[in-house]
Amino acid sequence: MTQEYAKLIIDGKTYEFPIIVGTEGERAIDISTLRKETGLITFDPGYANTGSCKSSITFMDGEKGILRYRGYPIEQLAEHSTFVETAYLLINGELPTRKQLNRFSVLLNDHSMVHEDMRHFFQSFPRRAHPMGILSSMVNALRAFYPEIPERSEEEEINVTVTRLLSKVRTMAAMSYKISRGHMVVYPRHDLSYAANFLNMMFHSPVRPYVIDDDLVDALNVFWILHADHEQNCSTAAVRLVGSARVNLYAAISAGICALWGPLHGGANQAVIEMLLQIQENGGDVRPFIERAKDKNDPFRLMGFGHRVYKTYDPRAKIMQKICYKVLKKLKRHDPLLDIARKLEEVALKDPYFIDHNLYPNVDFYSGIVLRALGIPLNMFTVMFAIGRLPGWISQWKESMEDPQWKLHRPRQIYIGVGEREYIPIDKREE
Ligand code: CMC
Repeated sequence: MTQEYAKLIIDGKTYEFPIIVGTEGERAIDISTLRKETGLITFDPGYANTGSCKSSITFMDGEKGILRYRGYPIEQLAEHSTFVETAYLLINGELPTRKQLNRFSVLLNDHSMVHEDMRHFFQSFPRRAHPMGILSSMVNALRAFYPEIPERSEEEEINVTVTRLLSKVRTMAAMSYKISRGHMVVYPRHDLSYAANFLNMMFHSPVRPYVIDDDLVDALNVFWILHADHEQNCSTAAVRLVGSARVNLYAAISAGICALWGPLHGGANQAVIEMLLQIQENGGDVRPFIERAKDKNDPFRLMGFGHRVYKTYDPRAKIMQKICYKVLKKLKRHDPLLDIARKLEEVALKDPYFIDHNLYPNVDFYSGIVLRALGIPLNMFTVMFAIGRLPGWISQWKESMEDPQWKLHRPRQIYIGVGEREYIPIDKREE
C-alpha cells in the first residue's frame, strides 16, 4: 500500500506527515516530528484526538458499539470464558491451552496469601476510610514486602509480579472489607476458583459458612470480564504514564487505582446507585433528574450515561443488564432500583438532549445492581471494578515496557500566565 501523507501549511510552508493505519482501518496523522520540523505543538485538552500509543490488546469502535480483547468479541468472552482465562488472554495475547491455564491457576493460588505484617496496615486505617484509598496504598506497599529478587530474570520477575498482583489484590480487597466490619479475616482456599474464592473470603464467617452458588460465581466472572480492559481510558493512561518513568509495576497500578476512583470513571458505579437511591427517596419519578441533567446551570449529570468513545449503546451495558435479570431471578429477588434504572433509560433515550448528545447507558449503569444482588457493599463497588481492570492495566503496562518506540510521557503546554517580572521583597508588596 502506498504511504499517504497529511499536508500542513504554516506560514506558507508545506509540511508532510505520514498517515498510519490500524488493523481495523482507523487512521492517524503521525506528528511525532511536528515540533522538530515546525517548532509548533498540538493542543488537545483531555487528549480526545490524541493516540498516545500503538496497541495490540483491545479494539473498540465507539460508533458501532464494538469491543474486542485480542480480537475476541466481548459478547463471546462473556458467554464462554472465565475471568482468569480472559486475564491470561489479555496479558499473554492468546487464549491458554488447558495446560497453560492450569499452570496460571496454580501460580495464582501460590500467590494468594498476603504477608501477615500487612494486616497491621489494614488495621491502622480509620474504619470509615474509603476502600479505594486503602487499596491503592496497599498495592503500593506490596513493593516493600515483595522486592525484586536480583537472581531472577526480568521475565521471571514480571511473571511473578503479575500473578502476585492478580491474586493478592483480590485477597486484599476482601480483607479490607472484613477488617472494616471488625470481622475475622478469611484466608484464600486452593480448592476454589478465583471468583468463588473472592466471594468466600468476603462472606464466609465461622458462624455462618458461605454456600457457593455457581450461578453467582458465573455472574461475578462476567462482571470482571466486562471490566477487564478498555484501551486508553483514564486509569490505563495513568498506568502507562506513571509506568513510562520506569517505576515498578506496583506503583504504576496504584496510580491506576487512584485514577479509577473518580466518579467520572470507575467511581461512577457507586454514584449510579446513589443516584437511583435518591430517585427512589424522591418518590421514584425520573423526570426531575432528567431535567436536572439537561440544565447547563446544574452540575448534576446522569451517572452511568455517556462515554468519551461510545456514541451508541455500550456493548458491556447490554450484557450487564441481562446479568441483572439473571442474578435477581436466581436469588428470587426484586430490586426496585432496576425498575427505576429501566425507566430512566427509557425516558432518557427518547429525550432530544440525550439523542443529540449521543448519550447512552455505559457499563456502570447496570453493574451496581448486579453487585448489590451479590451482597457487595456500596463503598466496595469501585474496588470490584479495580479487580476487574487489573489484567488490562497489567497487559498495557507490559506492552508499553516492550515497545521499542517507548518514551517518557511528558506532554507540553501553552503557557498563559504572566510574563517575566521582578521579584518584590515582602515589605514592598501591596496589602
Ligand atoms: N448527563 C448529562 N449530560 C452529559 C452527560 C451525562 N451523563 N455526559 C455528557 N453530557 C453532556 C455534557 O454536558 C456535554 O454537553 P454540551 O456539549 O452541551 O456542553 C456533552 O454531553 C459532552 O460531554 P463531555 O463531558 O465533554 O464528554 P466527555 O467525553 O468528556 O465525557 C463522561 C465522558 C463519561 C465523563 C461523561 O459522559 C460523564 O460525565 N458521564 C457520567 C459519569 C459516568 O457515567 N462515567 C462512567 C464512564 S464509563 C466507565 C469508565 O470508563 O469508567
